[in-house]
Amino acid sequence: MRSSIVAAAAFAIGAIAGPTYPYFQKRDCNDTCMTVDQATVVANNFQTLIASYSDALAEQVLTVDFQDYSDSVTELINSGCTGPQALGSVTFDGRAAFESGQGSQPAIPFEILNMWYACTGPVVIRWRSAQSPEIITGNIVLETERSTNGSEPWLISTVYSEFNSGAWLVNLGVFVPNCTADGDSAVGAVGKRALNMPRF
Ligand SMILES: *[C@@H]1O[C@H](CO)[C@@H](O)[C@H](O)[C@H]1NC(C)=O
Ligand SMILES: *[C@@H]1O[C@H](CO)[C@@H](O)[C@H](O)[C@H]1NC(C)=O
Ligand SMILES: *[C@@H]1O[C@H](CO)[C@@H](O)[C@H](O)[C@H]1NC(C)=O
Repeated sequence: MRSSIVAAAAFAIGAIAGPTYPYFQKRDCNDTCMTVDQATVVANNFQTLIASYSDALAEQVLTVDFQDYSDSVTELINSGCTGPQALGSVTFDGRAAFESGQGSQPAIPFEILNMWYACTGPVVIRWRSAQSPEIITGNIVLETERSTNGSEPWLISTVYSEFNSGAWLVNLGVFVPNCTADGDSAVGAVGKRALNMPRF
């Protein structure tokens, strides 16, 4: 169970793209500003890293000092408990840590809903995973560094990834909600309970 949670957590760091999302060929260029094609390559590199992981690809598309921050992933790794990983701290510190956390992944549906990017990064993605019973939606910020000595013009240096880990814990069976037959909470009025939720 724990290994499948860790696998799901590792997947969740950044899985992106779907079958209909276009893959643009890499470009080797001298531009100091990223093109939309290059931003899409960055996004799809991360997707490929998640969907068909290899160390070789990680070494091709991530910086050595790559860092991944995701309390959502930490929550999955911890199965809702306060350890072993501390919330608010880096989840994967270094490319090697990412590589050892990645492992073999189950096929999980993944779709890019939006992509934005700026001159030297970041590339920002909003994604959805059509899981059952609850869909997962998340946002990922991919910070990048220009590279001129490898096959990738832009390497991913830092990832900030947050998503609906509450729904993911439900899907994993870690959190079992008390629901009525039509899917509402059985433990009180949803609207009243919502009043007690923090405002963001
Ligand atoms: C662009 O990159 C190529 C290959 O590294 C190099 O030969 C060329 O001098 C560069 N051009 C500029 C304007 O930096
Ligand atoms: C590119 O340069 C960086 C920084 O010196 C180095 O870490 C990396 O291994 C180099 N990549 C290639 C493909 O030579
Ligand atoms: C679910 O909530 C209802 C309403 O509060 C309660 O009667 C029932 O015992 C709960 N079921 C479980 C399994 O906790």
